[in-house]
Amino acid sequence: MDSILFVCLGNICRSPLAHGVAEHIVNTEKLGLFIDSAGTSDWHKGESPCQHSIEIADQYHVDISQQRSRPVSKEDISLFKYVVAMDRQNKADLEAFGFEQVYLIGDFGNYQGEDVPDPYFFDGFEGFDKVYTMISLCVEDFMQRVKNGSL
Ligand code: 4NP
Repeated sequence: MDSILFVCLGNICRSPLAHGVAEHIVNTEKLGLFIDSAGTSDWHKGESPCQHSIEIADQYHVDISQQRSRPVSKEDISLFKYVVAMDRQNKADLEAFGFEQVYLIGDFGNYQGEDVPDPYFFDGFEGFDKVYTMISLCVEDFMQRVKNGSL
């Protein structure tokens, strides 16, 4: 089964949203794809996604509350067919770790290579809607390309 790993720094704000949106697409379209997410750091290992991410996903009927943060591992390198970073620093860190082909989520959905803003430093809930919109549009486009084999 083909598999996709979404990666950010802490695996508590951005990549859990990408993971949830992709899983939602897999479930509704009954695709044979395994979806997971991870962090380039282990700072939040074992933690649930941040409350604001859980809340914004919930508004779009995507449940990410059962996800738990984990750091990327060497096994992920051979395990996942597609690895997708949320920003350019994540991509550089993944490449330094040994991943060979790392996609940038902002290269999809007409975002022209933009980084997904790191909402960890946002002041409260404001901004999470914008982050969700960007992630969902980019993930939808990415999944479309996985499905039609144009990546
Ligand atoms: P994420 O956000 O990479 O989208 O999960 C962050 C989470 C935690 C930290 C930074 C970004 N942190 O510095 O602990």
